[in-house]
Amino acid sequence: MRKYESAFSSWFNGKGTFGFWKGRVALYAILKAMGIGIGDEIILPGYTCVVDVNPIKYLGAKPIYVDIEPVTFNINVELLQGEITPRTKVIIAQHTYGYPCNMDAIMNIADKNGIAVIEDCCPAFGSKYKGKTVGTFGKAAYFSFQWNKPYTTGLGGMVLVNDSELVEKIESLCEKELCKPSKKEVLMLAVQLAVYRAFIYPRTTAFAEALFRYLTKKGVVVGSSKFDECAAGPAEPNFFKAMSTAQARSGLRQLKKVELNIAHRKKMAQLYDQLLEAKGWHAQQYDSSIMEPVLVRYPVGVAEKEQALAKAGKAGIELGNWFNSPLHQIETSLRAYDYEPGMCPQAEKAAREVVNLPLHPRADEKTAKRTVEFITQFNST
Ligand SMILES: Cc1ncc(COP(=O)(O)O)c(C=O)c1O
Repeated sequence: MRKYESAFSSWFNGKGTFGFWKGRVALYAILKAMGIGIGDEIILPGYTCVVDVNPIKYLGAKPIYVDIEPVTFNINVELLQGEITPRTKVIIAQHTYGYPCNMDAIMNIADKNGIAVIEDCCPAFGSKYKGKTVGTFGKAAYFSFQWNKPYTTGLGGMVLVNDSELVEKIESLCEKELCKPSKKEVLMLAVQLAVYRAFIYPRTTAFAEALFRYLTKKGVVVGSSKFDECAAGPAEPNFFKAMSTAQARSGLRQLKKVELNIAHRKKMAQLYDQLLEAKGWHAQQYDSSIMEPVLVRYPVGVAEKEQALAKAGKAGIELGNWFNSPLHQIETSLRAYDYEPGMCPQAEKAAREVVNLPLHPRADEKTAKRTVEFITQFNST
């Protein structure tokens, strides 16, 4: 485990790293070590994973959602200052799909107001903003190694800390409160990872995801989202869980070849740009003079999202549906998470229209051609 943590820290030149069972646990560790508690306000984009909001709610803090801007799907910095109050303690800069946030503006506002920045790098490994790698701007950053992430260890999370005082605080929190995954959980995860490596390819993903979700509900597999993890009340007793040695071993192996993974993702994104443009769809429109994204998935807007997703599964096309809500995969009402419908119109529009295309190492040129052929039967937005 220490080997993986220190290799990860060296890659980013960070001050410390801590491995956890999942990405959301990593966020919980940062917030708790920072002393976040009842009544504190945490700003984040209204276009995220609901499991990101749970740690905020577990600590009695309040999520404040800020709308996104439509090119990078990241927090709209024009709206940020207006949401700051004396209770604001943290801004979460989520690098959505791998597009770096406008870190100059975020760090400026944060510094001016004495607020900490935590970077959500779960979808972004290796992306750069003005030549600097994301994860190295804020006080801390967190990463996920769940199935859909830049690389996967089945499940997994990492905190990268850029502040010595916070390193000590997380260390002390882990000493006191961190629990270990059970032998059964570790074994189940290892089996799932082996199954994933053997059988999950772009043509089989839709079927596998449906099956996986069903088995998770039945409690047969260790799913990414436990259905008893919800916003109400404190975290369940064994939520604050360590990364297992098996996850760390797998992570270390993949970190060693992450440069290849990054190069592949960049090449595939360029290919999608060309293929989509050739079909009259617009390619990515980000400002390449300031950002160098490494995308986890390639987002495109499609007018008939539901129809496209329904047909994709049958056609053996790997089409991602996230985020399908301002708080993705929500099982309860948005209001239970302090989100009022209409709060973030751009995020809600993106949730209705955006699907994402595969860029992972198992997707190749043929995958990109088939996927673009499929998606361009529909209307772009
Ligand atoms: C943007 C974002 N942040 C955080 C998470 C949480 O990561 P994990 O599933 O490892 O808890 C996810 C997704 O799962 C995510 O998409």
